[in-house]
Amino acid sequence: MKILVINGPNLARLDLRDSGIYGNATYPELVAFIEQSAVARGFTCEIRQSDTEAEIIGWLHEAADARTPVIFNPAAFTHYSYAIRDAAQMLTAPLIEVHLSNPMSREEFRHTSVISGVATGTIAGFGPNSYLLALEALQGLMKK
Ligand code: DQA
Repeated sequence: MKILVINGPNLARLDLRDSGIYGNATYPELVAFIEQSAVARGFTCEIRQSDTEAEIIGWLHEAADARTPVIFNPAAFTHYSYAIRDAAQMLTAPLIEVHLSNPMSREEFRHTSVISGVATGTIAGFGPNSYLLALEALQGLMKK
């Protein structure tokens, strides 16, 4: 089963962000962790990162057309991108929203997710393990 993992803006510079919130892993380390966890669960996964809304929207359209399940960390777009929400709403296979941190325990502007309402489910606050939990959730959904 093929899945697509999409990471949003600023995540490629993970090790340069607040380590108290995001830990010390580099983005390549995060990618390797997701890849290994996916393969161990029988998934073939493609992991993409973009800082631009338009590129992410294009990838969501692609996933919708191919009926590919998506694990998505929309990063800051989570909180305000209606265009990304509208694209996510058109997906044709499960969408798991993930966050490394727990946005609900952070600044108030992070308490709103415009994506959650169109996601199958959301996993947040477990660092890189948020992606692992998302893979396990997908595994369960695919068995149904
Ligand atoms: C994030 C949380 C967002 O609020 C933030 O803008 C990010 C990363 C996370 O993974 O914890 O860039 O999505």
